[in-house]
Amino acid sequence: MDYLEIEEKVAKMDITLPPPEPEADRQYYFIRKLQLWMEEKKKELGRPLTACITTFGCQMNARDSEKIIGIMEMIGYEMTDSEEADFVLYNTCTVRENANLKVYGRLGQLKKYKKKNPHMVIALCGCMMQEKVVVDKIKQSYRNVDIIFGTHNIFKLAELLSLKLLDRPESKKMIIDIWDGTTEVVEDLPNERKYSFKSGVNIMFGCNNFCSYCIVPYVRGRERSREPEDIIAEIECMVKDGVVEVMLLGQNVNSYGKTLEHPVSFAQLLERVEKIEGLERIRFMTSHPKDLSDELIEVMAKSQKICKQLHLPLQSGSTRLLKDMNRHYTKEDYLFLVEKIRRAIPDIALTTDIIVGYPGETEQDFEETLDVVRKVEYDSAFTFIYSKRTGTPAAAKEDQVPQNVVKERFDRLLELVQDISAKKTQKDVGTIQQILVEEQNQHDANLMTGRTGRNYLVHFPGNKDLIGKLVSVRLVESKGFYYMGERIEE
Ligand code: SAH
Ligand code: SF4
Ligand code: F3S
Repeated sequence: MDYLEIEEKVAKMDITLPPPEPEADRQYYFIRKLQLWMEEKKKELGRPLTACITTFGCQMNARDSEKIIGIMEMIGYEMTDSEEADFVLYNTCTVRENANLKVYGRLGQLKKYKKKNPHMVIALCGCMMQEKVVVDKIKQSYRNVDIIFGTHNIFKLAELLSLKLLDRPESKKMIIDIWDGTTEVVEDLPNERKYSFKSGVNIMFGCNNFCSYCIVPYVRGRERSREPEDIIAEIECMVKDGVVEVMLLGQNVNSYGKTLEHPVSFAQLLERVEKIEGLERIRFMTSHPKDLSDELIEVMAKSQKICKQLHLPLQSGSTRLLKDMNRHYTKEDYLFLVEKIRRAIPDIALTTDIIVGYPGETEQDFEETLDVVRKVEYDSAFTFIYSKRTGTPAAAKEDQVPQNVVKERFDRLLELVQDISAKKTQKDVGTIQQILVEEQNQHDANLMTGRTGRNYLVHFPGNKDLIGKLVSVRLVESKGFYYMGERIEE
Protein backbone atom coordinates (compact mmCIF):
# COMPACT_ATOMS: atom_id res chain seq x y z
CA MET A 1 0.00 0.00 0.00
CA ASP A 2 1.25 3.49 -0.62
CA TYR A 3 1.27 6.36 1.84
CA LEU A 4 -2.04 7.80 0.66
CA GLU A 5 -3.85 4.48 0.93
CA ILE A 6 -2.55 4.00 4.47
CA GLU A 7 -3.50 7.58 5.34
CA GLU A 8 -7.03 6.91 4.09
CA LYS A 9 -7.29 3.74 6.17
CA VAL A 10 -6.07 5.57 9.26
CA ALA A 11 -8.61 8.36 8.74
CA LYS A 12 -11.42 5.80 8.69
CA MET A 13 -10.53 4.26 12.06
CA ASP A 14 -13.31 4.53 14.63
CA ILE A 15 -11.59 5.16 17.94
CA THR A 16 -14.79 4.89 19.96
CA LEU A 17 -14.57 1.14 19.39
CA PRO A 18 -11.91 -1.14 20.91
CA PRO A 19 -8.79 -1.61 18.73
CA PRO A 20 -9.23 -4.08 15.84
CA GLU A 21 -7.42 -7.45 15.77
CA PRO A 22 -5.21 -7.52 12.63
CA GLU A 23 -1.87 -6.03 13.63
CA ALA A 24 -1.58 -3.34 10.95
CA ASP A 25 -5.18 -2.16 11.57
CA ARG A 26 -4.52 -2.10 15.28
CA GLN A 27 -1.62 0.26 14.71
CA TYR A 28 -3.66 2.46 12.34
CA TYR A 29 -6.14 2.77 15.21
CA PHE A 30 -3.49 4.06 17.62
CA ILE A 31 -2.08 6.41 14.99
CA ARG A 32 -5.60 7.84 14.58
CA LYS A 33 -5.97 8.30 18.32
CA LEU A 34 -2.68 10.15 18.47
CA GLN A 35 -3.55 12.30 15.44
CA LEU A 36 -6.64 13.61 17.25
CA TRP A 37 -4.64 14.19 20.41
CA MET A 38 -1.99 16.00 18.36
CA GLU A 39 -4.55 18.42 16.91
CA GLU A 40 -5.65 19.40 20.40
CA LYS A 41 -2.09 19.67 21.63
CA LYS A 42 -1.06 21.93 18.75
CA LYS A 43 -3.89 24.30 19.56
CA GLU A 44 -3.01 24.28 23.24
CA LEU A 45 0.70 25.00 22.66
CA GLY A 46 0.29 27.18 19.60
CA ARG A 47 3.06 25.24 17.84
CA PRO A 48 3.64 21.84 16.26
CA LEU A 49 5.24 19.05 18.28
CA THR A 50 8.70 17.98 17.16
CA ALA A 51 10.54 14.66 17.05
CA CYS A 52 14.25 13.93 16.73
CA ILE A 53 15.26 10.42 15.62
CA THR A 54 18.92 9.37 15.78
CA THR A 55 20.09 6.17 14.16
CA PHE A 56 23.18 4.16 15.08
CA GLY A 57 24.46 1.06 13.31
CA CYS A 58 23.78 -0.58 10.00
CA GLN A 59 21.41 -0.30 7.06
CA MET A 60 18.82 -2.43 8.85
CA ASN A 61 18.59 0.18 11.55
CA ALA A 62 18.51 2.96 8.98
CA ARG A 63 15.56 1.25 7.32
CA ASP A 64 13.84 0.72 10.68
CA SER A 65 14.24 4.42 11.40
CA GLU A 66 12.45 5.24 8.16
CA LYS A 67 9.53 3.20 9.46
CA ILE A 68 9.68 5.01 12.79
CA ILE A 69 9.74 8.41 11.08
CA GLY A 70 6.84 7.33 8.84
CA ILE A 71 4.72 6.56 11.89
CA MET A 72 5.73 9.75 13.71
CA GLU A 73 4.98 11.95 10.70
CA MET A 74 1.63 10.32 10.15
CA ILE A 75 0.75 11.09 13.76
CA GLY A 76 1.65 14.72 13.02
CA TYR A 77 5.10 15.24 14.53
CA GLU A 78 7.51 17.55 12.74
CA MET A 79 10.97 16.09 12.33
CA THR A 80 13.93 18.09 13.64
CA ASP A 81 17.67 17.56 14.04
CA SER A 82 17.66 19.28 17.40
CA GLU A 83 17.40 17.19 20.56
CA GLU A 84 15.47 19.99 22.20
CA ALA A 85 12.39 18.21 20.86
CA ASP A 86 9.11 16.87 22.26
CA PHE A 87 10.06 13.31 21.32
CA VAL A 88 13.64 12.03 21.16
CA LEU A 89 14.43 8.50 20.06
CA TYR A 90 17.71 6.62 19.73
CA ASN A 91 17.65 3.60 17.46
CA THR A 92 20.65 1.79 18.90
CA CYS A 93 23.36 -0.60 17.73
CA THR A 94 25.38 -3.00 19.85
CA VAL A 95 27.65 -4.72 17.35
CA ARG A 96 30.74 -3.19 18.96
CA GLU A 97 31.16 -1.68 22.39
CA ASN A 98 31.77 1.89 21.21
CA ALA A 99 28.31 1.92 19.63
CA ASN A 100 26.92 1.32 23.14
CA LEU A 101 29.06 3.95 24.80
CA LYS A 102 27.86 6.63 22.41
CA VAL A 103 24.25 6.03 23.41
CA TYR A 104 24.97 6.30 27.13
CA GLY A 105 26.86 9.53 26.53
CA ARG A 106 24.02 11.05 24.55
CA LEU A 107 21.41 9.92 27.09
CA GLY A 108 23.30 11.74 29.82
CA GLN A 109 23.20 14.94 27.80
CA LEU A 110 19.43 14.70 27.35
CA LYS A 111 18.85 15.31 31.05
CA LYS A 112 19.20 19.08 30.68
CA TYR A 113 16.64 19.23 27.86
CA LYS A 114 14.14 17.20 29.79
CA LYS A 115 14.49 19.54 32.73
CA LYS A 116 13.53 22.43 30.44
CA ASN A 117 10.66 20.54 28.84
CA PRO A 118 9.29 18.00 31.34
CA HIS A 119 6.78 16.68 28.79
CA MET A 120 9.57 15.55 26.52
CA VAL A 121 9.29 11.84 25.73
CA ILE A 122 12.55 9.86 25.49
CA ALA A 123 12.40 6.52 23.70
CA LEU A 124 15.02 3.87 23.01
CA CYS A 125 14.85 0.99 20.59
CA GLY A 126 17.11 -1.14 18.42
CA CYS A 127 19.65 -3.86 19.02
CA MET A 128 21.06 -2.68 22.36
CA MET A 129 17.62 -2.94 23.92
CA GLN A 130 17.50 -6.68 23.23
CA GLU A 131 20.20 -7.14 25.89
CA LYS A 132 18.90 -7.55 29.39
CA VAL A 133 22.00 -5.99 30.97
CA VAL A 134 21.41 -2.83 28.97
CA VAL A 135 17.77 -2.48 29.96
CA ASP A 136 18.68 -3.12 33.61
CA LYS A 137 21.32 -0.40 33.47
CA ILE A 138 18.87 2.08 31.94
CA LYS A 139 16.24 1.26 34.56
CA GLN A 140 18.82 1.95 37.23
CA SER A 141 20.75 4.92 35.91
CA TYR A 142 18.67 6.66 33.27
CA ARG A 143 15.29 7.16 34.90
CA ASN A 144 14.30 9.88 32.45
CA VAL A 145 13.74 7.33 29.66
CA ASP A 146 10.00 6.85 28.99
CA ILE A 147 9.70 4.08 26.42
CA ILE A 148 11.90 1.12 25.53
CA PHE A 149 11.13 -1.33 22.77
CA GLY A 150 13.21 -3.78 20.75
CA THR A 151 13.99 -4.91 17.26
CA HIS A 152 10.97 -7.22 16.87
CA ASN A 153 8.16 -4.79 17.61
CA ILE A 154 9.03 -1.48 15.95
CA PHE A 155 5.59 -1.57 14.36
CA LYS A 156 4.09 -1.07 17.86
CA LEU A 157 5.49 2.44 18.26
CA ALA A 158 2.10 4.19 17.97
CA GLU A 159 0.55 1.83 20.51
CA LEU A 160 3.33 2.38 23.05
CA LEU A 161 3.27 6.13 22.52
CA SER A 162 -0.47 6.16 22.96
CA LEU A 163 -0.08 4.27 26.23
CA LYS A 164 2.42 6.87 27.42
CA LEU A 165 0.73 10.05 26.21
CA LEU A 166 -2.98 9.23 26.40
CA ASP A 167 -3.40 6.54 29.04
CA ARG A 168 -0.85 7.52 31.66
CA PRO A 169 0.61 10.94 30.89
CA GLU A 170 1.57 11.69 34.48
CA SER A 171 3.09 8.31 35.29
CA LYS A 172 6.86 8.18 35.73
CA LYS A 173 6.89 4.44 35.06
CA MET A 174 9.04 3.36 32.13
CA ILE A 175 7.15 1.52 29.41
CA ILE A 176 9.25 -1.49 28.46
CA ASP A 177 8.20 -3.86 25.70
CA ILE A 178 10.93 -6.20 24.49
CA TRP A 179 10.23 -9.44 22.64
CA ASP A 180 12.65 -12.37 22.54
CA GLY A 181 11.78 -13.11 18.96
CA THR A 182 8.94 -13.16 16.49
CA THR A 183 7.67 -15.05 13.48
CA GLU A 184 5.60 -12.06 12.45
CA VAL A 185 6.43 -9.60 9.68
CA VAL A 186 3.92 -6.74 9.78
CA GLU A 187 3.43 -5.28 6.31
CA ASP A 188 1.83 -2.01 5.22
CA LEU A 189 2.82 0.47 7.87
CA PRO A 190 3.80 3.98 6.87
CA ASN A 191 7.46 4.76 6.26
CA GLU A 192 9.29 7.87 5.20
CA ARG A 193 12.27 7.38 2.94
CA LYS A 194 15.37 9.45 3.57
CA TYR A 195 15.99 9.82 -0.17
CA SER A 196 13.19 10.14 -2.70
CA PHE A 197 15.09 8.22 -5.38
CA LYS A 198 16.71 5.30 -3.56
CA SER A 199 15.69 3.03 -0.76
CA GLY A 200 16.61 0.02 1.33
CA VAL A 201 14.18 -2.89 1.20
CA ASN A 202 14.19 -5.59 3.86
CA ILE A 203 14.06 -9.00 2.24
CA MET A 204 14.76 -10.90 5.43
CA PHE A 205 15.24 -10.32 9.13
CA GLY A 206 17.49 -11.91 11.72
CA CYS A 207 20.46 -14.22 11.35
CA ASN A 208 21.11 -17.94 11.95
CA ASN A 209 24.84 -18.00 11.47
CA PHE A 210 26.15 -17.39 14.96
CA CYS A 211 29.62 -16.27 13.98
CA SER A 212 31.46 -16.69 17.27
CA TYR A 213 32.22 -12.97 17.79
CA CYS A 214 28.87 -11.57 16.71
CA ILE A 215 25.91 -10.44 18.77
CA VAL A 216 23.51 -9.87 15.88
CA PRO A 217 21.78 -13.30 16.02
CA TYR A 218 21.02 -12.70 19.72
CA VAL A 219 19.51 -9.25 19.21
CA ARG A 220 17.84 -9.69 15.83
CA GLY A 221 16.50 -13.22 16.33
CA ARG A 222 16.20 -16.10 13.90
CA GLU A 223 16.24 -15.70 10.18
CA ARG A 224 12.86 -14.89 8.56
CA SER A 225 12.37 -14.15 4.87
CA ARG A 226 9.59 -11.97 3.52
CA GLU A 227 7.37 -13.41 0.80
CA PRO A 228 8.70 -12.48 -2.65
CA GLU A 229 5.27 -11.10 -3.61
CA ASP A 230 5.38 -8.64 -0.70
CA ILE A 231 8.91 -7.54 -1.61
CA ILE A 232 8.02 -7.01 -5.26
CA ALA A 233 4.83 -5.12 -4.36
CA GLU A 234 6.78 -2.83 -2.02
CA ILE A 235 9.42 -2.08 -4.66
CA GLU A 236 6.77 -1.46 -7.34
CA CYS A 237 5.13 1.00 -5.02
CA MET A 238 8.44 2.76 -4.39
CA VAL A 239 9.20 2.94 -8.10
CA LYS A 240 5.83 4.55 -8.73
CA ASP A 241 6.89 7.06 -6.14
CA GLY A 242 10.19 7.94 -7.86
CA VAL A 243 12.68 5.36 -6.56
CA VAL A 244 15.23 4.22 -9.17
CA GLU A 245 17.68 2.32 -6.97
CA VAL A 246 16.99 -0.28 -4.29
CA MET A 247 19.30 -1.95 -1.80
CA LEU A 248 17.98 -5.38 -0.79
CA LEU A 249 18.81 -5.86 2.88
CA GLY A 250 19.52 -8.94 4.98
CA GLN A 251 22.32 -10.18 7.26
CA ASN A 252 22.93 -13.02 4.82
CA VAL A 253 20.95 -12.41 1.63
CA ASN A 254 22.41 -15.57 0.08
CA SER A 255 20.26 -17.70 2.34
CA TYR A 256 17.11 -15.76 1.43
CA GLY A 257 13.95 -17.77 0.91
CA LYS A 258 15.15 -21.12 2.22
CA THR A 259 12.56 -21.26 4.97
CA LEU A 260 9.56 -19.98 2.99
CA GLU A 261 6.65 -22.34 2.46
CA HIS A 262 7.46 -22.24 -1.25
CA PRO A 263 11.24 -21.79 -1.20
CA VAL A 264 12.73 -19.18 -3.54
CA SER A 265 16.45 -18.58 -3.98
CA PHE A 266 18.02 -15.15 -3.71
CA ALA A 267 19.04 -15.35 -7.37
CA GLN A 268 15.43 -16.06 -8.33
CA LEU A 269 14.26 -13.11 -6.27
CA LEU A 270 16.78 -10.88 -8.05
CA GLU A 271 15.47 -12.02 -11.42
CA ARG A 272 12.00 -10.98 -10.38
CA VAL A 273 13.15 -7.61 -9.06
CA GLU A 274 15.04 -7.05 -12.32
CA LYS A 275 11.74 -7.22 -14.22
CA ILE A 276 10.23 -4.25 -12.40
CA GLU A 277 9.81 -1.55 -14.98
CA GLY A 278 11.21 1.84 -14.08
CA LEU A 279 13.69 0.42 -11.57
CA GLU A 280 17.21 1.18 -12.77
CA ARG A 281 19.64 -0.14 -10.19
CA ILE A 282 19.71 -3.03 -7.74
CA ARG A 283 22.19 -3.46 -4.91
CA PHE A 284 22.18 -5.86 -1.97
CA MET A 285 23.97 -6.61 1.28
CA THR A 286 25.27 -8.61 2.99
CA SER A 287 26.50 -11.63 1.09
CA HIS A 288 27.99 -14.40 3.22
CA PRO A 289 30.76 -16.14 1.26
CA LYS A 290 29.68 -19.60 2.44
CA ASP A 291 26.28 -19.36 0.73
CA LEU A 292 27.14 -17.48 -2.46
CA SER A 293 25.84 -19.67 -5.29
CA ASP A 294 26.92 -20.09 -8.91
CA GLU A 295 23.33 -19.26 -9.79
CA LEU A 296 23.78 -15.82 -8.16
CA ILE A 297 27.00 -15.14 -10.06
CA GLU A 298 25.25 -16.07 -13.30
CA VAL A 299 22.28 -13.82 -12.60
CA MET A 300 24.58 -10.92 -11.67
CA ALA A 301 26.71 -11.39 -14.78
CA LYS A 302 23.81 -11.18 -17.18
CA SER A 303 21.78 -8.55 -15.34
CA GLN A 304 21.33 -5.05 -16.71
CA LYS A 305 20.30 -3.59 -13.38
CA ILE A 306 22.31 -5.29 -10.64
CA CYS A 307 25.23 -3.01 -9.87
CA LYS A 308 28.70 -4.41 -10.43
CA GLN A 309 29.48 -4.25 -6.77
CA LEU A 310 29.66 -6.94 -4.12
CA HIS A 311 30.25 -6.67 -0.39
CA LEU A 312 31.85 -9.96 0.62
CA PRO A 313 32.95 -9.94 4.27
CA LEU A 314 36.21 -11.78 4.81
CA GLN A 315 36.58 -11.22 8.59
CA SER A 316 39.97 -13.00 8.62
CA GLY A 317 42.36 -14.55 6.13
CA SER A 318 43.44 -17.26 8.55
CA THR A 319 41.71 -20.59 7.98
CA ARG A 320 42.36 -21.48 11.61
CA LEU A 321 40.59 -18.37 12.87
CA LEU A 322 37.81 -18.64 10.28
CA LYS A 323 37.03 -22.08 11.67
CA ASP A 324 36.98 -20.74 15.18
CA MET A 325 34.77 -17.85 14.03
CA ASN A 326 32.28 -20.42 12.65
CA ARG A 327 32.42 -18.85 9.17
CA HIS A 328 32.38 -22.18 7.25
CA TYR A 329 34.97 -21.28 4.61
CA THR A 330 38.74 -21.44 4.37
CA LYS A 331 41.16 -18.86 3.04
CA GLU A 332 41.41 -20.92 -0.16
CA ASP A 333 37.61 -21.21 -0.52
CA TYR A 334 37.34 -17.45 -0.27
CA LEU A 335 40.08 -16.76 -2.82
CA PHE A 336 38.59 -19.33 -5.17
CA LEU A 337 35.18 -17.69 -4.87
CA VAL A 338 36.64 -14.26 -5.65
CA GLU A 339 38.36 -15.70 -8.70
CA LYS A 340 35.13 -17.27 -9.90
CA ILE A 341 33.24 -13.99 -9.46
CA ARG A 342 35.90 -11.96 -11.24
CA ARG A 343 35.98 -14.42 -14.12
CA ALA A 344 32.23 -14.00 -14.64
CA ILE A 345 32.10 -10.25 -13.89
CA PRO A 346 35.57 -8.81 -14.59
CA ASP A 347 34.80 -5.20 -13.67
CA ILE A 348 33.08 -5.97 -10.35
CA ALA A 349 33.97 -3.78 -7.35
CA LEU A 350 34.64 -5.88 -4.26
CA THR A 351 34.38 -4.57 -0.71
CA THR A 352 34.74 -6.36 2.60
CA ASP A 353 34.69 -6.34 6.40
CA ILE A 354 37.75 -7.41 8.39
CA ILE A 355 38.18 -7.92 12.12
CA VAL A 356 41.58 -7.38 13.70
CA GLY A 357 42.52 -8.86 17.06
CA TYR A 358 40.09 -11.76 17.27
CA PRO A 359 41.03 -13.83 20.36
CA GLY A 360 44.07 -15.97 19.69
CA GLU A 361 45.08 -14.05 16.54
CA THR A 362 48.82 -14.55 16.03
CA GLU A 363 51.15 -12.57 13.81
CA GLN A 364 50.96 -15.51 11.40
CA ASP A 365 47.12 -15.33 11.32
CA PHE A 366 47.26 -11.61 10.73
CA GLU A 367 49.76 -12.07 7.88
CA GLU A 368 47.22 -14.40 6.24
CA THR A 369 44.67 -11.58 6.36
CA LEU A 370 47.14 -9.16 4.77
CA ASP A 371 47.84 -11.78 2.14
CA VAL A 372 44.18 -12.04 1.16
CA VAL A 373 43.89 -8.25 1.05
CA ARG A 374 46.90 -8.07 -1.28
CA LYS A 375 45.58 -10.84 -3.49
CA VAL A 376 41.98 -9.65 -3.75
CA GLU A 377 42.77 -5.93 -3.92
CA TYR A 378 39.50 -4.70 -2.46
CA ASP A 379 38.02 -1.48 -3.78
CA SER A 380 37.42 -0.64 -0.15
CA ALA A 381 37.39 -2.46 3.17
CA PHE A 382 35.78 -1.75 6.52
CA THR A 383 38.26 -2.66 9.22
CA PHE A 384 37.19 -3.24 12.80
CA ILE A 385 39.03 -3.81 16.03
CA TYR A 386 37.58 -6.91 17.67
CA SER A 387 35.13 -5.97 20.38
CA LYS A 388 34.16 -8.44 23.08
CA ARG A 389 30.38 -8.93 23.11
CA THR A 390 28.94 -10.50 26.27
CA GLY A 391 27.15 -13.77 25.61
CA THR A 392 28.99 -14.65 22.40
CA PRO A 393 31.31 -17.69 22.41
CA ALA A 394 34.37 -15.58 21.53
CA ALA A 395 33.89 -13.42 24.62
CA ALA A 396 34.58 -16.41 26.86
CA LYS A 397 37.96 -17.06 25.26
CA GLU A 398 41.00 -16.46 27.39
CA ASP A 399 43.56 -15.58 24.75
CA GLN A 400 42.35 -12.02 24.06
CA VAL A 401 45.02 -10.12 22.12
CA PRO A 402 46.70 -7.24 24.00
CA GLN A 403 45.45 -3.82 22.92
CA ASN A 404 48.79 -2.45 21.77
CA VAL A 405 49.31 -5.44 19.48
CA VAL A 406 45.83 -5.04 18.01
CA LYS A 407 46.34 -1.33 17.44
CA GLU A 408 49.63 -1.90 15.66
CA ARG A 409 48.09 -4.55 13.37
CA PHE A 410 45.05 -2.41 12.73
CA ASP A 411 47.22 0.47 11.53
CA ARG A 412 49.19 -1.80 9.22
CA LEU A 413 46.01 -3.22 7.73
CA LEU A 414 44.46 0.20 7.28
CA GLU A 415 47.52 1.47 5.45
CA LEU A 416 47.48 -1.47 3.08
CA VAL A 417 43.76 -1.20 2.45
CA GLN A 418 44.04 2.53 1.73
CA ASP A 419 47.02 2.14 -0.59
CA ILE A 420 45.12 -0.43 -2.62
CA SER A 421 41.93 1.69 -2.73
CA ALA A 422 43.88 4.71 -3.96
CA LYS A 423 45.51 2.61 -6.67
CA LYS A 424 42.14 1.20 -7.72
CA THR A 425 40.55 4.63 -8.00
CA GLN A 426 43.27 5.63 -10.48
CA LYS A 427 42.18 2.87 -12.81
CA ASP A 428 38.93 4.39 -14.00
CA VAL A 429 40.14 7.95 -14.58
CA GLY A 430 39.13 9.04 -18.08
CA THR A 431 36.18 6.64 -18.39
CA ILE A 432 32.56 7.73 -18.71
CA GLN A 433 30.21 6.38 -16.04
CA GLN A 434 26.52 6.52 -15.27
CA ILE A 435 26.07 8.39 -11.99
CA LEU A 436 22.98 8.47 -9.81
CA VAL A 437 23.01 12.04 -8.51
CA GLU A 438 22.34 12.03 -4.77
CA GLU A 439 22.89 15.47 -3.30
CA GLN A 440 24.49 18.85 -3.45
CA ASN A 441 28.10 18.76 -2.29
CA GLN A 442 28.27 19.76 1.36
CA HIS A 443 31.34 21.97 0.94
CA ASP A 444 30.75 23.47 -2.47
CA ALA A 445 27.25 24.33 -3.66
CA ASN A 446 28.36 24.35 -7.30
CA LEU A 447 29.15 20.65 -7.12
CA MET A 448 26.77 17.72 -7.14
CA THR A 449 27.61 14.34 -5.64
CA GLY A 450 26.58 10.98 -7.00
CA ARG A 451 27.58 7.34 -7.17
CA THR A 452 28.72 5.07 -9.95
CA GLY A 453 27.25 1.60 -10.32
CA ARG A 454 30.39 0.28 -8.65
CA ASN A 455 29.52 2.57 -5.73
CA TYR A 456 32.30 5.14 -6.08
CA LEU A 457 31.54 8.72 -5.09
CA VAL A 458 31.87 11.35 -7.82
CA HIS A 459 31.69 15.14 -7.44
CA PHE A 460 30.99 17.18 -10.55
CA PRO A 461 29.72 20.66 -11.46
CA GLY A 462 25.95 20.63 -11.81
CA ASN A 463 22.73 21.88 -10.30
CA LYS A 464 20.14 20.57 -7.89
CA ASP A 465 17.64 19.62 -10.62
CA LEU A 466 19.81 16.60 -11.29
CA ILE A 467 19.16 15.00 -7.89
CA GLY A 468 17.64 11.54 -8.35
CA LYS A 469 18.62 11.37 -12.01
CA LEU A 470 21.10 9.10 -13.78
CA VAL A 471 23.58 11.14 -15.78
CA SER A 472 26.76 10.41 -17.73
CA VAL A 473 29.91 11.79 -16.17
CA ARG A 474 33.53 11.56 -17.27
CA LEU A 475 35.87 10.79 -14.37
CA VAL A 476 38.51 13.48 -14.65
CA GLU A 477 40.63 13.00 -11.56
CA SER A 478 41.00 10.46 -8.76
CA LYS A 479 41.24 11.77 -5.21
CA GLY A 480 42.04 8.47 -3.53
CA PHE A 481 38.56 7.41 -2.49
CA TYR A 482 36.45 9.48 -4.83
CA TYR A 483 36.54 11.15 -8.20
CA MET A 484 36.10 14.61 -9.61
CA GLY A 485 34.15 14.47 -12.85
CA GLU A 486 32.46 16.44 -15.57
CA ARG A 487 29.04 15.88 -17.05
CA ILE A 488 28.71 14.62 -20.61
CA GLU A 489 25.51 15.87 -22.25
CA GLU A 490 23.67 13.00 -23.96
N1 SAH B 1 25.84 -10.02 8.41
C1 SAH B 1 27.01 -9.36 8.04
C2 SAH B 1 27.66 -8.50 9.08
C3 SAH B 1 26.89 -7.69 10.01
S1 SAH B 1 27.83 -6.91 11.28
C4 SAH B 1 28.01 -10.43 7.63
O1 SAH B 1 27.97 -11.53 8.06
O2 SAH B 1 28.91 -10.09 6.91
C5 SAH B 1 28.96 -5.93 10.32
C6 SAH B 1 30.40 -6.23 10.57
O3 SAH B 1 30.74 -5.90 11.90
C7 SAH B 1 30.82 -7.67 10.44
O4 SAH B 1 31.02 -8.07 9.12
C8 SAH B 1 32.07 -7.74 11.26
O5 SAH B 1 33.20 -7.46 10.48
C9 SAH B 1 31.88 -6.63 12.27
N2 SAH B 1 31.70 -7.19 13.61
C10 SAH B 1 30.70 -7.98 14.04
N3 SAH B 1 30.89 -8.30 15.34
C11 SAH B 1 32.04 -7.70 15.72
C12 SAH B 1 32.79 -7.67 16.94
N4 SAH B 1 32.39 -8.33 18.02
N5 SAH B 1 33.93 -6.94 16.96
C13 SAH B 1 34.36 -6.28 15.87
N6 SAH B 1 33.70 -6.29 14.72
C14 SAH B 1 32.56 -6.99 14.62
FE1 SF4 C 1 26.89 -11.64 12.56
FE2 SF4 C 1 27.79 -13.69 11.19
FE3 SF4 C 1 25.18 -13.16 11.22
FE4 SF4 C 1 26.84 -11.56 9.93
S1 SF4 C 1 26.41 -13.71 9.43
S2 SF4 C 1 25.20 -10.96 11.30
S3 SF4 C 1 28.66 -11.61 11.20
S4 SF4 C 1 26.41 -13.82 12.95
FE1 F3S D 1 24.20 -2.86 14.88
FE2 F3S D 1 21.99 -4.17 15.04
FE3 F3S D 1 22.93 -3.52 12.69
S1 F3S D 1 23.75 -4.50 16.30
S2 F3S D 1 25.12 -3.48 13.03
S3 F3S D 1 22.24 -2.13 14.23
S4 F3S D 1 21.83 -5.38 13.21
